Amino acid sequence: MSQEDQEPSAEQLHEMFFMDCFKKMKRLRIFEPSLGILGFFLVAVCVIFGFFLLDYKAVVKGSRFFAESDRLLWLKLNEGGEKRARKVDFLSEEGGRCNVFEGDWIWDDSYPLYQSTDCSFLDEGFRCSENGRPDMFYTKWRWQPKDCNLPRFDPKIMLDKLRNKRVVFVGDSIGRNQWESLLCILSSVIPDKDSIYEVNGNPITKHRGFLIFKFKDYNCTVEYFRAPFLVLQSRPPAGAPSNIKTTLKLDQMDWSWSKWRDADMLIFNTGHWWNYEKTIRGGCYFQEGLEITMDMEVETAYKRSLQTVLDFVHRELNTSKTQVFFRTYAPVHFRGGDWRNGGNCHLETLPELGSSLVPSNNWEMYNLFSNVVSAHLNLSNAEAVEVLNITHMTARRKDGHSSLYYLDPNVGPAPPHRQDCSHWCLPGVPDAWNELLYAIFLKRENLQFRNRYFGHMDDS
Ligand SMILES: *[C@@H]1O[C@H](CO)[C@@H](O)[C@H](O)[C@H]1NC(C)=O
Ligand SMILES: *[C@@H]1O[C@H](CO)[C@@H](O)[C@H](O)[C@H]1NC(C)=O
Ligand SMILES: *[C@@H]1O[C@H](CO)[C@@H](O)[C@H](O)[C@H]1NC(C)=O
Ligand SMILES: *[C@@H]1O[C@H](CO)[C@@H](O)[C@H](O)[C@H]1NC(C)=O
Repeated sequence: MSQEDQEPSAEQLHEMFFMDCFKKMKRLRIFEPSLGILGFFLVAVCVIFGFFLLDYKAVVKGSRFFAESDRLLWLKLNEGGEKRARKVDFLSEEGGRCNVFEGDWIWDDSYPLYQSTDCSFLDEGFRCSENGRPDMFYTKWRWQPKDCNLPRFDPKIMLDKLRNKRVVFVGDSIGRNQWESLLCILSSVIPDKDSIYEVNGNPITKHRGFLIFKFKDYNCTVEYFRAPFLVLQSRPPAGAPSNIKTTLKLDQMDWSWSKWRDADMLIFNTGHWWNYEKTIRGGCYFQEGLEITMDMEVETAYKRSLQTVLDFVHRELNTSKTQVFFRTYAPVHFRGGDWRNGGNCHLETLPELGSSLVPSNNWEMYNLFSNVVSAHLNLSNAEAVEVLNITHMTARRKDGHSSLYYLDPNVGPAPPHRQDCSHWCLPGVPDAWNELLYAIFLKRENLQFRNRYFGHMDDS
């Protein structure tokens, strides 16, 4: 089985969808009317929700019942506007110790940051509303840290700072999801879309090893390298048993490292491929040095690979030049199964308030990562890697996935048992990750500027 075959990506879901179509024409005919009813129901919910939102302030004043109703509790988040004014600015000096990953999702009518129809750098699989998703609520939530305010993403400022620079995402298709979000945000302020192009002329829809988009006016590139494990996957050593199809070299970086080691900003992610199905079941075993350990647990291999990435950063990268981010695991929200056997998320239209219902293995992936990283944080120069700690905030966004709406409107929506509850609609949740990336990036730029400035003052 090839590497490509194993990803539960939009591509594979497509394939399965078409297989289903041929096999189950009759069943599909039964689905259509129920989808119509479902659509009508969702639109009705939209309208009712809209009324609530408009009337909320009046309602709160007029009636205790509504203000105290549990069902409307989440609407209280809208009071965030007031709170926003009282909090310190993350970019100010007082904002320095604020944990931006702790907070709430706040309804904000000034979002999203762009429209998918204005962005040509988007995979069909992420264009949910164009693919028929009836509600737009998922585009309206802004992340509000508990103790400070984030700056709104200003693409012009970012592009100015990125002049002559390279931003590189390395990871799996969820990293690609975030990369496309950043492309859309940045390109929203460029009037001449032809001035943004893939340097090798490859279309974004083709599944390539890497894609490099250049913003000509800024001589800046925003790149994606596909490396779902981050470490090297390749042929087994000569003479290995025939059931070993490939090995993951847990002590070596992915082959592409020499291409992106000079990046100015590097955003890693991994996790969704570190499971039995996508490794051992497909004949992919774990190798260190020349030794293949047949019975190594996937969890152990995952931890070793993370250690390899962190060691690599310290050994091979110039971290004064390259700002390194590591994004934590992005939770999936399949309910009643997984991506292969009917798991769903298509009825989710609101974020969750309290503790989330994500499957427990999401937290296992997070904890494994967290353990390796916190051991690493004890080392010197640990600040060289910035953890984009988005797992908790993202766990509440069960409403943000592509679900049934990853197919072109002429083809889809997908049948309910073929849902994508791993990837995210755009505009949507990955935009919030990029707003955090933006804020942390600016913070570091400001600090460096201040250091330079005061350094200069000392000299004179
Ligand atoms: C990530 O953020 C969560 C929520 O704020 C926090 O509980 C956790 O300790 C953080 N982990 C790391 C590694 O910073
Ligand atoms: C464009 O940016 C690259 C780095 O990404 C740099 O090496 C090159 O000199 C820049 N070109 C110009 C004309 O500034
Ligand atoms: C690392 O990068 C900084 C900033 O670009 C540069 O001044 C320095 O010379 C580089 N160090 C090495 C060893 O290349
Ligand atoms: C990090 O260091 C602290 C104190 O120096 C120690 O208590 C803690 O166990 C260390 N953590 C890890 C994961 O090594």
